[in-house]
Order: sequence, then structure tokens, then C-alpha cells
Amino acid sequence: MNIILLGPPGAGKGTQAQRLVVQRAMVQLSTGDMLRAAVKAGTPVGLKAKAVMDAGELVSDEIVSGIIGEALDQLPPETGVIFDGYPRTAAQAESLDALLAARGRHLDHVVELEVDEDALVDRITGRFTCASCGEGYHDRYKRPSVEGVCDRCGGTEFKRRPDDNEETVRTRMAEYRAKTAPILPIYEARGIVSRVDGMADIDGVSEAIESVLEHQV
Ligand code: AP5
Ligand code: MG
Repeated sequence: MNIILLGPPGAGKGTQAQRLVVQRAMVQLSTGDMLRAAVKAGTPVGLKAKAVMDAGELVSDEIVSGIIGEALDQLPPETGVIFDGYPRTAAQAESLDALLAARGRHLDHVVELEVDEDALVDRITGRFTCASCGEGYHDRYKRPSVEGVCDRCGGTEFKRRPDDNEETVRTRMAEYRAKTAPILPIYEARGIVSRVDGMADIDGVSEAIESVLEHQV
């Protein structure tokens, strides 16, 4: 099964994708995570992307569709994929169809996480992740069970994203409204969109997504 998790910054795409990876043995392809890795490694893509990401704007369609194509090529054909943060523009939605078709795959479902924008700044400014394994946390909504120790890998170093400040979040939200939300009708016309209440607690959102996906098979 190949699915898209769609929603604005802080909607919970990464949090829920990580759970699907564990529960359904799917692979998460997060363009944001892949771009941050490229920035960290100082690759040509990373050098181009850094300033754009720090400003909260969108990296070019060619770059992100290129990295998605390369990532798909690394996967065995039967592996289910969760697209997290991709596609984000009409051109990317078109590229995704072509990338999937060229690999004998197709898109099964789009899960839209519906959230109240006011909550997003709070979610994003409270977010941190394990520096070793990338597990996501939040200052109030999801603290490690043992303070300062990652639940998943036992790591003791955590980090915050440079674009997780209020000003950049506002730009990211504006980009979402202007360029990403308008792609939903493409998928609605295919009858493959389900809406999930992203304001429920993390377990509640997971249960709602699971119930949507159960009805897909
Ligand atoms: P990206 O990394 O995709 O960022 P984003 O879309 O802004 O989304 P976030 O990762 O901020 O939010 P999320 O929905 O994953 O939330 P999370 O689960 O972490 O993109 C970053 C940048 O890269 C872009 O701005 C752009 O420059 C570039 N880029 C990436 N993809 C691109 C593309 N396709 N095209 C062009 N440019 C691209 O949750 C947030 C916090 O809330 C966490 O702390 C979590 O613990 C907490 N939380 C989650 N769910 C809940 C809940 N239900 N209740 C309470 N707290 C919760
Ligand atoms: Mg994310």
C-alpha cells in the first residue's frame, strides 16, 4: 500500500508515519527529513536547500521529486510507502503519479490530518527529536518516559530544527495554504481521500488512521 499523509506543518505527519513504520512495516519517505540529511551532509542538494528551508519556503519541485525517485529505487517493489511532506504542489503531485507508474506502483490512499492552525505553532515550537535515531518528542505532549533518555534507542542527545520558530512557522503555513492545500481536489476526484481529526491525542489519531487503512484492503 502506498499512501500520502497530508497536512500543514505540525499536523503530526512525521509522528504518525513513524508509528505506521512500526505497526505496518511500511517505509516513511519524508522529503523534509531527506533534505535535512542533505543539508547536514553538505551535498549539492543540501547547499541549495538550506536557505530556502530556513526561510520556510518550498524547495524546487525538481529537487524533491528527484530525491523521491532515488529513494523509491532503493526499495523492494512490495514495500509499502508513506509519503510524508510530499507532494506539496500540483507539479509534485503529477511527478508522483509518474514516478509510481514507472515503478509499477500506484497511490492507494491520501489521509488528510485536519488541525486547528492555532495549535500548530505550539506543537512546532515545543518539538524536539533524538539526535541518534530521530524519534520525535514534544515539551508537553510527548516527553521521554525517563527524562533525558530516548525511549527508542537510549540516546541522551536531543535536537531542535532551525525552522521551528514562530516566524518561519507562519511562512510554512502560508506556503501550505497557497500551494499544498489546493492539490487535495486532485485526489478527491479519484475518491481516495479520508479526513482524520488531527486534534485528537497522538494515540487517538493513530487509531483513526488505522481504521481508515483497514478499510482499504
Ligand atoms: P517538513 O519537514 O516536511 O516540515 P512540515 O511540513 O513543516 O511539517 P513538520 O515536520 O513541521 O510537521 P509534522 O506534520 O511532521 O509534525 P510532527 O509529527 O513532527 O519540511 C520542512 C521544510 O523542507 C519545508 O518548509 C520546505 O522548505 C522543505 N520541504 C520538505 N518537503 C518539501 C517538498 N515536498 N517540496 C518543497 N519543499 C519541501 O508533530 C509536531 C509536534 O507535535 C511534535 O513535537 C509531536 O510530538 C507533536 N504532536 C504530533 N501529533 C500530536 C497530537 N496529536 N497531539 C499533540 N501533539 C502532537
Ligand atoms: Mg515532519
